[in-house]
Amino acid sequence: MTRIRTALVGAGVIARQHGVVIDQLADRLELVAVVDRDAAKGQELAAKHGGAVFATLEEAFSAGPVELVVVCTPTGAHGEIAIEALERGAHVIIEKPAEITVERANRILAVQERTGRIVSVISQHRFDPSTEIVLEKIRAGELGRITSGVAAIDWWRGQSYYDSGDWRGTWALDGGGALMNQGVHTVDLLVAALGRPVEVFGYTATNAHERIEVEDVAAAVVRFESGALGVIHGSTAVYPGLVARLQVHGDRGSAVIENDKLTYLHATPADAERAEIAMGAQGGDTNQAAQYFDADGRPQVAGTSVPGAMGDAHLFQYRNVLAAIDGTEEVRVGIAENRRAIAIITGLYESTRTGRPVALEV
Ligand SMILES: NC(=O)c1ccc[n+]([C@@H]2O[C@H](COP(=O)([O-])OP(=O)(O)OC[C@H]3O[C@@H](n4cnc5c(N)ncnc54)[C@H](O)[C@@H]3O)[C@@H](O)[C@H]2O)c1
Repeated sequence: MTRIRTALVGAGVIARQHGVVIDQLADRLELVAVVDRDAAKGQELAAKHGGAVFATLEEAFSAGPVELVVVCTPTGAHGEIAIEALERGAHVIIEKPAEITVERANRILAVQERTGRIVSVISQHRFDPSTEIVLEKIRAGELGRITSGVAAIDWWRGQSYYDSGDWRGTWALDGGGALMNQGVHTVDLLVAALGRPVEVFGYTATNAHERIEVEDVAAAVVRFESGALGVIHGSTAVYPGLVARLQVHGDRGSAVIENDKLTYLHATPADAERAEIAMGAQGGDTNQAAQYFDADGRPQVAGTSVPGAMGDAHLFQYRNVLAAIDGTEEVRVGIAENRRAIAIITGLYESTRTGRPVALEV
């Protein structure tokens, strides 16, 4: 099988992870081009993982065929590059979030539909073993009717982080702050668990940083099409940085994922009677998570890897993209899915400006 000629655009922090994954998939992928406006960044990445260095995608395509383009630039530059890649006939992997607004994400989707190429938006935590288990329990009805969920991203980013790149913390290129950049992963998991969001209300504030245009704390409530309600707390102003947590609750069970690890699960199989509990609290001794993970968080499920190991989750998502290119699997996180998380976050920004709930149409 010939290898897929791959170009990586934007050779910064996250591109290193993609370089590692492309190496791991060397039997299927060949890194032929590294594109960065900053030649030194491009050269550094190419020296480790291969590929010729270019300043623009146009130059990379002029030098030879490119079949897959991986977009790792600042978020507000994703759309332009993804659309150029699609127009030139390539499949595209875009780092999260797809773009800074739903409208811009829709532009990519329209070109994808016209060109018929594959587009996948990185949301690697959907591929964590913990997430897969929870989503499977939901699909099987073992959490019952999903009533509510909580997405908490209680992190810290120092001022030095925001000062490390002039795009960070800007509306034009970051598209938002603690939620759009960091929290989007967990918001996307909330969407994966609770479905289509229809309304959001909340507040944002900038309480612990300077020289950023965007929020470092956000608090929101979301209503989903199913009637389930979600709560979001997302922050980069929680010193020294605590947990990223997803809670999913239903009338037959609950699940909690903390830092990519399944820490609580109670599921009631479809053919089992749900025990009547008049006043439940604290989960009792009903935690079933241990059957999937040992006390150190190592999975006991064959074929999965240690939660929190970043490379593995990206690798799993790449495998899904390769299977989609081969025609054996559907893309699991495309633009249509990722824009739901973007809609919640940009809806929250609008809600903050207007003081009103915002209807979401995604
Ligand atoms: N999946 C994850 O866990 C994860 C983690 C970090 C970042 N990200 C996402 O990855 C993207 C990049 O983040 P980063 O932290 O790597 O940023 P970064 O600033 O470290 O790297 C961005 C690179 O893109 C280059 N660049 C900027 N505009 C360009 C253009 N038009 N053409 C070519 N190169 C260009 C810059 O010179 C820089 O080298 C963001 O969308 C971010 O949200 C995802």
